[in-house]
Amino acid sequence: MTKPFLAGVTAFVLSCATALAGGVFTGADGVGDPYYPKMGNTGYDVQSYDVKLKYRRSGKIRARTTIEAVADTDSGAPATGPSLGGFDLDFRGPEVTGLTVDGSESAFSRTGQELVVDPPSNIADGSVFEVEVRYKGRPKQVSNPDGSEDGWTKTGDGVVALGEPQETPSWIPVNDHPTDKAAWHFRFVTPREKIAISNGELISEEQTEKSTITEWEQSEPMASYLALAAIGEFRVDEGEVAGIPYLGVVDRRIDKFVVDEIKERTETAHEFLADVAGPYPFSATGAVIDPSALDFAMETQGRPYYPSPPPLQLVIHELAHQWFGDSVSVERWKDIWLNEGFATYMEWLYEEETGGESVAARFERVYDANGPSSSFWNPPPADPGGPQNLFDPAVYNRGAMALEVLREEIGDADFFEVLETWAQDNEYGNASTEDLYDLIEAVTGSPRPDSFDDWLYDPGKPSCSIC
Ligand code: TRP
Ligand code: ZN
Repeated sequence: MTKPFLAGVTAFVLSCATALAGGVFTGADGVGDPYYPKMGNTGYDVQSYDVKLKYRRSGKIRARTTIEAVADTDSGAPATGPSLGGFDLDFRGPEVTGLTVDGSESAFSRTGQELVVDPPSNIADGSVFEVEVRYKGRPKQVSNPDGSEDGWTKTGDGVVALGEPQETPSWIPVNDHPTDKAAWHFRFVTPREKIAISNGELISEEQTEKSTITEWEQSEPMASYLALAAIGEFRVDEGEVAGIPYLGVVDRRIDKFVVDEIKERTETAHEFLADVAGPYPFSATGAVIDPSALDFAMETQGRPYYPSPPPLQLVIHELAHQWFGDSVSVERWKDIWLNEGFATYMEWLYEEETGGESVAARFERVYDANGPSSSFWNPPPADPGGPQNLFDPAVYNRGAMALEVLREEIGDADFFEVLETWAQDNEYGNASTEDLYDLIEAVTGSPRPDSFDDWLYDPGKPSCSIC
């Protein structure tokens, strides 16, 4: 499920990183994302991941991930292009004990985050193939360019595995870029007193004498960075929100009333967000509250993660990402403001619509409170300057302010049409800031306002066209 992007950059990467001799193509070790050159791989499109993982009380795991993919040698002519002679997966996990391609043991090697696969025979372009990776040991966290650490993270009674943008390879071998979304199935075996929570629908739960076994199905497309595992001792609240299965999962050490509180907040957020952005894109919803060393909440698909009981504002933020981020995902990480600016805007809009401060008033207050030399204004949200600034507050706040500039320039009717059309037309796909410009032009019948560009791209405090 890949959408081609950055054609020029990809072509450049391919020409230097791949061999194309005798009709055999070797996939590149990155998809050409400028901020993360080694994220994702070329040569194939993943259709589905099947993750089977056993977690022991010692913290050790034994796992087997099966990936179904279609060979895609970028020749533009599936089935007649060169065959795929080798490819990479992204994996930062423990020891790989074996790897098969279409059932035959395959050679592999590891360099950095790349798991380099050298299959026993070439794979015909356009054909479906299956890779099975077996691994065991103790997964570790991943360090990010901004100094944060996430991924496989120990908790008091187990582990949480989540993060952004490159943490999933800490426990699953993946094609780690949001442009390659896939269907997912998980099966976890944990010690009997614990349970493993993941994305999508809980399709089976079973207890044996020693173990608890859960299976999860995420049938709508999901980008790898949105994968979730939370293993521990929880209160699990099964119900329904917005007409779909809801699962609220709260660490046992947290007050019981939080179980009802998080469900109410999730319900409130669903109602508000569906009004603004259209029908919720996934077939399950919920929340996981599990204290850990991670100090951020995360929009893990269908079931956001919170390190502590969240205020309604944060629930709105993480659920807003289900539309803006999870369903409509960035095409390259530089476009992160399309996630964080939109989710922040939804927080502000909720305030406005429930009798609190209007977004316009908030905009002016914040505009006046931060002088021209304030670091509040940098970096510009649509060009944050590198992966170390991916989650800079300016990406969130100035990104949301840029949307308010757009709203006041084009008027409420067109603005709200842009928001909903963005979520619906790009459902389960990828989009960029340029795609947003195109949509604004299609909805309003004129080019986007210049001031919107300034708010997205100009360093320093932008002048205020709407004050
Ligand atoms: N995407 C998260 C959000 O809802 C934020 C986030 C993920 C984050 N990883 C991070 C923030 C690392 C700071 C550091 O906004
Ligand atoms: Zn966010």
